[in-house]
Amino acid sequence: MKFVKAILIGAVVVAGAAYAKGDRTDPNAKARSDLMRDIGKNIGVLGDMAGGKAAYDAAAAEAAKAALVADAAAIEAAFKDQGGADPASEAKPEIWTNWDEFLADAKALGDAAAAMDVASAETIGAGMGALGGTCKDCHTEFRMATN
Ligand code: HEC
Repeated sequence: MKFVKAILIGAVVVAGAAYAKGDRTDPNAKARSDLMRDIGKNIGVLGDMAGGKAAYDAAAAEAAKAALVADAAAIEAAFKDQGGADPASEAKPEIWTNWDEFLADAKALGDAAAAMDVASAETIGAGMGALGGTCKDCHTEFRMATN
């Protein structure tokens, strides 16, 4: 079971962090990308602790959780304006035609981050599936990419 969980956490972190693509030039696309990279960085902090790659650090875990909650709340503003075409952007046009659904996915991320119990590496591990699932839900529908 521990092994399965470690794989799950690994998959979430890879889906989040390692798949970042090229840098955006359009300012709107860049703001979206910067926000997502910050989200990827912070779930990576939690994933590393849960998976034993980093020592559990209560302050760092709290900070990563708070950053995820704040980043989720910032999604609406960062994505509101589609901006110009950017070849590196992976944002699907459906974001702006299904805006309410997109916002619901952003809220799901914020709720899952807020519900994350960061009291120990084990409790973080227990919450990673739910948290990572919210990335996947939104990416599947609204991001042109591989996960
Ligand atoms: C509400 C929808 C939504 C949620 C929730 C979401 N993402 Fe994203 N994410 C996107 C979209 C859309 C893009 C593509 C943005 C673009 O290229 O303009 C993206 C792109 C990314 C990128 C690539 C950034 C880059 O510069 O290449 C990473 C990394 C990422 N997301 C990580 C995450 C992680 C990790 C989570 C969950 C903790 C998450 N995202 C949750 C919508 C979402």
